[in-house]
Amino acid sequence: MLKPNKLAKNNFLSSLDLSPDEVLHILELASNFKNKKLNIDLNNKVLGLIFDKSSTRTRVSFQVAMSRLGGTTIDLNPTTSQIGRGEPIKDTARVLSRYCDVIAIRTFDHLDLEEYAKWSTKPVINALTDLEHPCQALADYLTIHEEFFDFKDVVLTFIGDGNNVAHSLILCGALLGIEVRIACPKGYEPNPFVIKKAREIYNNDNLLKISNDPYTAAKGSNVLYTDVWSSMGEENQKEKKDTDFNGFTINSDLVTNADKDAIILHCLPAYRNKEITDAVMESENSRIFQQAENRLHAQQGLLACLLS
Ligand code: CP
Ligand code: NVA
Repeated sequence: MLKPNKLAKNNFLSSLDLSPDEVLHILELASNFKNKKLNIDLNNKVLGLIFDKSSTRTRVSFQVAMSRLGGTTIDLNPTTSQIGRGEPIKDTARVLSRYCDVIAIRTFDHLDLEEYAKWSTKPVINALTDLEHPCQALADYLTIHEEFFDFKDVVLTFIGDGNNVAHSLILCGALLGIEVRIACPKGYEPNPFVIKKAREIYNNDNLLKISNDPYTAAKGSNVLYTDVWSSMGEENQKEKKDTDFNGFTINSDLVTNADKDAIILHCLPAYRNKEITDAVMESENSRIFQQAENRLHAQQGLLACLLS
């Protein structure tokens, strides 16, 4: 029977913390969990959840994943714990890692996540920062694999903000050797550090294409992906971003430009008829809810490896 392998790194802060083989291993575990071919008992291990931003999918999928693995979670809501009072991360991290076996953190500044990992003696998982959303990317590539059976010749086009979700898609895509095209308005390109890292991983750095033209980027793509234009913490930029992203909506016209069997992904939550039309979200090409379900299976795979 398939067994979870220990990961080389203790934490999952970035897609870069995994090797290509480790990504494939987690996806294989995820698929086995999903098909009920694998059952692992973590013997009451405890996952602590620290969410400085709202969450539905990430929070609930982690809770259900731990429950299915025979473990449990503690919701360390910052407003009801001393985190909200501003207790130094180095103190909180050292205390929590004496109670919990693993900690998942959603916060703003990626450096704060790294600070938790520095002081925690237990694995730390990135449940989204302003820089990356690596758990999301695992579920996304699981969904793509379910559709196309392998990653060879898959072209993934992300249309939207070159932000956390796009960053993890780029980095995980580079590990898997997938062609990733990003189309964003000028000034919203992905972080240059992320682009540099991805190009170092790709054997052929033509596989990463950054442009400001959604129609050319979508041409012949197998996957069209988008995310909100204004992320959590950017609420005050909403008006400007809505204007700047005009023309970057995934609508039926754009979908026609992609491969005829292209699938549509969105990490959710969506603003319907902004970054994606209602019709495209509900179309038969949409795999958006399968993708959301896959958060659960991918995180079961990840937790099994981190806690094995
Ligand atoms: N996709 C995602 O992370 O959703 P939540 O914000 O609901 O967790
Ligand atoms: N880019 C979005 C993703 C939400 C899952 C945000 O950070 O708000």
